Amino acid sequence: MRLIICDNYQEMSKAAAKLVSSQLTVKPDSVLGLATGSTPVGMYNILAEMCKNGDVDFSEAKSFNLDEYYPISSDNSQSYHYFMQENLFSKINIKPENTHILNGMCKDTDAECKSFEKMISESGGIDLQILGIGQNGHIGFNEPDANLNPNTHLTDLTENTISANSRFFDNIDEVPKQAITMGIGTILKAKKIVLLASGAEKHKVVKQLLEGKITTDIPASMLKVHSDTVLICDRAAYSSERIGVDIGGTDIKFGILNDKNELIHKESIPTIASDEQTLISQIANKCKELMQAYSINGIGVGTPGLIEKGRVTASNLPFKGTFLAKELERLTGISVRVANDANCAALGESTAGAGRNSRNIVMITIGTGIGGGIIINNKLYEGKGSAGEIGHIIVEKGGIQCPCGQRGCWERYSSASALVDMAKKRAEEHKDSVLYSLYKENGKMNGKIFFEAVNRNCPDAKTVLDEYIERLADGINSIANIFEPDMIILSGGITNAGDSLLTPLSKKVNVTVHIAQLKNDAGIIGAAMLQ
Ligand code: GLP
Repeated sequence: MRLIICDNYQEMSKAAAKLVSSQLTVKPDSVLGLATGSTPVGMYNILAEMCKNGDVDFSEAKSFNLDEYYPISSDNSQSYHYFMQENLFSKINIKPENTHILNGMCKDTDAECKSFEKMISESGGIDLQILGIGQNGHIGFNEPDANLNPNTHLTDLTENTISANSRFFDNIDEVPKQAITMGIGTILKAKKIVLLASGAEKHKVVKQLLEGKITTDIPASMLKVHSDTVLICDRAAYSSERIGVDIGGTDIKFGILNDKNELIHKESIPTIASDEQTLISQIANKCKELMQAYSINGIGVGTPGLIEKGRVTASNLPFKGTFLAKELERLTGISVRVANDANCAALGESTAGAGRNSRNIVMITIGTGIGGGIIINNKLYEGKGSAGEIGHIIVEKGGIQCPCGQRGCWERYSSASALVDMAKKRAEEHKDSVLYSLYKENGKMNGKIFFEAVNRNCPDAKTVLDEYIERLADGINSIANIFEPDMIILSGGITNAGDSLLTPLSKKVNVTVHIAQLKNDAGIIGAAMLQ
């Protein structure tokens, strides 16, 4: 089986359409075996466009469709008769009498199947057979079964197929339980076979097909005995390696996550934030370089700032309403998803860090301000784009002015900067304290110096810590009351204080609190998990 990997669905569709048109150029009266499902729709659209422009001619072509539900009438919008009419036949110059689809309302299915086989051989056999693949490896409606039927036959559909195909019906009960389909032998008799696979939901079966043995459990694996079969798939179906990008003011981190969500590569480059286009090209170029070395199916990007309707606005980066995902998709040709960086870090911790065994977590990033990320059922809750701005819940009416415009935001009282300010003030007021002497000795105040004073049992440092913990706990308890998460994860430099912070905090909160484990990798892992 030959393999062609395309960057995306559109490229896959183009490659397949090209094979069909070449076939018709070489042999205008070719017999085509056609498939339904969502996968070949892009290819059909391209062929219709080509036919309209005179680039392909179906006037002498014949077609035989793989399968049809049973029972179903041809005017039912879910029938494959209807599908073919809508998606291809009405848009190309094929003669209606040259198209053949099994009759979903026939009385005698045996006779229908025999006559279909006869018509195929009388037309000289199928020259080019197009196939999609079901998530369970079915081709046509040849479902996994120890006894695969070689000829066109009536078959029961498996629950897997009924549920996968129910997306086209109003409800699952409307999906027919049976179908008539070409058999594996009918398909294998085609001179050339093109198997199409697109999307992450096909990744598992494509991997089984490429790496596994020939088995009736995966009917498509029978195609491996055919001498002229090509599998054309997009990256999402072929691979589950993803790039995670974490954009920071000083550097941009890149990581590759494999299908077990393990970080198999990481690197970083200095951020060139001179202007929007330079920064976007810088990210796209590195991604393209990684796409050469790895088989990447998508990119996730974590960025500071707000994301609204796909537009990113970040104060310390040249993003002012930038369509970041769209631009990167244009430059790399593969799927790109963008989320707020604190949200990505939360997703990273919930995937591979402190929250890996929990379904619901809230991560609180304590730094200059307070950021956050909410994970519900292992999925990032994004609201309209960047939910989780928990640093801006108001804890003090008319309180300290916040750069966001409000007064009394939680981050004004519980961020690392707030703690440092409180410590400085207390030190200045108590010049006989250990806190003050450490402050003067170091010529500055920071979290590390403050916690050193705490660990040296400085009563003034402890008073500040008590007050700080009180405020921090109030906010955490409010969040826990809203989300009732399995745990709250704290991250940021201040968490280096470890138990000096966690022990007193745990006494004041009504939820389990853990410290983040992934440090700098959380952002890239979470960004990659967006895909
Ligand atoms: C249906 C069809 C198959 C098709 C499969 C996958 O069951 N009988 O011919 O390949 O679904 O469909 P999709 O391309 O929508 O994933």
